[in-house]
Amino acid sequence: MKFVVKPKVYLTRQIPQKAIDMIKEYYEIVGIWEEYYPPPYEVLIEKVKDIDALVSLLTDKIDKNLIDNAPKLRIIAQYAVGYDNIDVEYATKKGIYVTNTPGVLTEAVADLTWALILGVARRIVEADEYVKKGEWWKTKTGWHPMMMLGIEIHGKTLGILGMGRIGRAVARRAKGFNMRVIYYSRRRLPEELEKELNAEYVDFETLLKESDILSIHVPLTKETYHMIGEKQLKMMKRNAILINTARGAVIDTAALIKALEKKWIAGAGLDVFEQEPLPPDNPLTKFKNVVMAPHMGSATHKTRTRMGELVAENLIAFIKGEIPPTLVNKEVVNIRKPGF
Ligand code: NAP
Ligand code: GLV
Ligand code: GLV
Repeated sequence: MKFVVKPKVYLTRQIPQKAIDMIKEYYEIVGIWEEYYPPPYEVLIEKVKDIDALVSLLTDKIDKNLIDNAPKLRIIAQYAVGYDNIDVEYATKKGIYVTNTPGVLTEAVADLTWALILGVARRIVEADEYVKKGEWWKTKTGWHPMMMLGIEIHGKTLGILGMGRIGRAVARRAKGFNMRVIYYSRRRLPEELEKELNAEYVDFETLLKESDILSIHVPLTKETYHMIGEKQLKMMKRNAILINTARGAVIDTAALIKALEKKWIAGAGLDVFEQEPLPPDNPLTKFKNVVMAPHMGSATHKTRTRMGELVAENLIAFIKGEIPPTLVNKEVVNIRKPGF
């Protein structure tokens, strides 16, 4: 079923063409923000005034005020799994559907998590610089018993904070490293799944105390904000590595800097930050034992295309009066039926 007058959608950024083509069949794309940086809030406020649908990114602040400025808005299709940038509660109240892109990016993020784990443990970034900058050449030795010694992963304890889709995919990869896997999450997994993952449920404190690698996979919520602070970092092992590919604000950055300075932990691998982009003068940038990436967990060609398709699938289901496949606020269905 195609409409003669198509509902209007605005895209806050260029997404893969495949998705744009799918959306175009059903919606009138009234605009795409073409810059590399996000549309400023004031611009977004203007853009949403007359639209029926919005394709948003995690860098767009979708708050009460913005929603109030969008009287016709019926669906926000987020190009990400995390949606902490959206006031979902208020959107629900207004009968606005919010969708995200879970599942399709799980494996890509789990891979990047492991890249950070190994990168920190085996000092890959430091080593790369060592070779490229000629430091290795200067040593006049091809091999030395004490050169670039790191931390061994094999047989260690991997701690997962937030055993959801990504947490589980990270845990699955630990099998090849013959690791003990422990986890803390809001809910305990069913026994069969624990067995399959070879993962043991522990309380938060035990997770902090026993993990050699602690990897964060909780969403950012009121409850998880600064969940890792000074107190928690002090409980960790001195030779532990902290990995965050979830959201920056789950860690108290000031506390992490202190922990690294005081050597409460051995290192960190970070894909996400409280402030993004991270200013180059941020103290975190001075540590050799911190490996950083610019929030690129899902950044593979395949995954980003699949995320775009899922955004389109959500928008198309909605226009057909169907419940979008990855609806975040399921309760909204009781407030308004899907469709325009
Ligand atoms: P998910 O399947 O919802 O997993 C999140 C897990 O955290 C769930 O098991 C959840 O428990 C648990 N949790 C929620 N609040 C908690 C709390 N207060 N204490 C303990 N556990 C809690 O989500 P996902 O698909 O794995 O994604 C996780 C997060 O990764 C996203 O929210 C996003 O912020 C981040 N992410 C980052 C990138 C990147 O580029 N770096 C890419 C994708 C995603 P319940 O099952 O009870 O809800
Ligand atoms: C990326 O961070 C996402 O939430 O998809
Ligand atoms: C190192 O290259 C070794 O052969 O042990």
